[in-house]
Amino acid sequence: MKKIKAFAHASSANLGPGFDILGLALSVFQDTVELEEDPFSSRISIFSNELPLAVENNTAGLAIKKILEREKIRIGIKLKIAKGVPVGMGLGSSGASAAAAVTAMNEFLGLNLSMQEMISFAMQGEAAAAGDPHADNVAPALLGGLVALTSTDPIDFMNLNFNQNISMKLILPYVKIENKTKIARSVVPKEIPLKDHTLNTMNILGLLRSFESGDIEKLKKYMTDPIVESKRSIIYPFLNNIKNISMKYRDVAVALSGAGPSIIAFHDKNNEPETFLNEVANELNMQGIGCKIVESHVGLGSRVTQE
Ligand code: HSE
Repeated sequence: MKKIKAFAHASSANLGPGFDILGLALSVFQDTVELEEDPFSSRISIFSNELPLAVENNTAGLAIKKILEREKIRIGIKLKIAKGVPVGMGLGSSGASAAAAVTAMNEFLGLNLSMQEMISFAMQGEAAAAGDPHADNVAPALLGGLVALTSTDPIDFMNLNFNQNISMKLILPYVKIENKTKIARSVVPKEIPLKDHTLNTMNILGLLRSFESGDIEKLKKYMTDPIVESKRSIIYPFLNNIKNISMKYRDVAVALSGAGPSIIAFHDKNNEPETFLNEVANELNMQGIGCKIVESHVGLGSRVTQE
C-alpha cells in the first residue's frame, strides 16, 4: 500500500507589525506526517501522541478533509503525525502539521495543486486551532523563507529577501495556556486609530527593507507594533519587561513570535547577543517561569521525503 511522508518546518508569524501578513520559516523544528490509504474505512484516522485525534480539531486532519471534499473523493486515510515543533509556543506548530499534511496529500492523490491552493487548504486546517483562518504560519511552512500574504481571498503571496547575515534565537518561556491562539486573537482590537495604521504600514515597509539589507538597528526600529503585540502583554506579563530589556541593545531586534509565548530575537550572525539572552533568562527565572533558548536558521519549504 502506497505511503507518503512529508515534513514542514516551524515558523514565526507577525514579526512585529505584520499581524496575519508576515511569516518566517524556522529550520530548528519540524513536523512529519505520513499518509496511507485505509482500505477498511472511509474516514480519516489520526495517530498522534500530542494532538487532538478528532478530525475537526486537528489542523492536519481538517486540511486533508477539505481536500477530499473539494476533490469529491471518498476514501479512508490513516494519518500519522510526528510532532517536532513544540505545541502552543507560537512557533507555528499547528501550521506545520497542516502544511505537511497538504504537501503529502497533494503527492498522494497526484493533484498538482498550485501553491495558492496548498496555502488555502492548509489555512482552512489551521482554523481548527486558531478558530479563524490565517495563513502567516502555513505560507512560510509550505514555501520556506520569509513570506508575505498579499491577498487572502483568493490567496496570494510574495517571497521576500532575507539577508544571510541575520541569525535568530528563539526564547521559549515555560508557559502553557489552553486555547492560547484563540485567546491571543480575542484581545486584538477590531478597530484602530488611523495614526496606528499609518505607523504600522511604515514599519512593515521598513522591516522588509531591513530584512533584505541585514541592518539590525533598522530592523529593531521597525519591529514594533502598536496594534496587536502590545495588547498581548495582558496574556504574557513578562512581555513588556523583555521588550524593555531589548531597548538597551541596539543590535538585537525582538518580537513576540506569532500568538506567543515565544520570543524571536534577530541579530547579526557575527555578533552573538549573549548578554541580552542572559538578562532575558534571568528575568524569566525571577518571574518563576524559566525558559529554553535555541538557535534557528531560515527554514526550507515543506517537502515529500518518502513514497
Ligand atoms: N498571526 C497569528 C496571530 C499567528 O498572531 O494570531 C498565530 O500563530
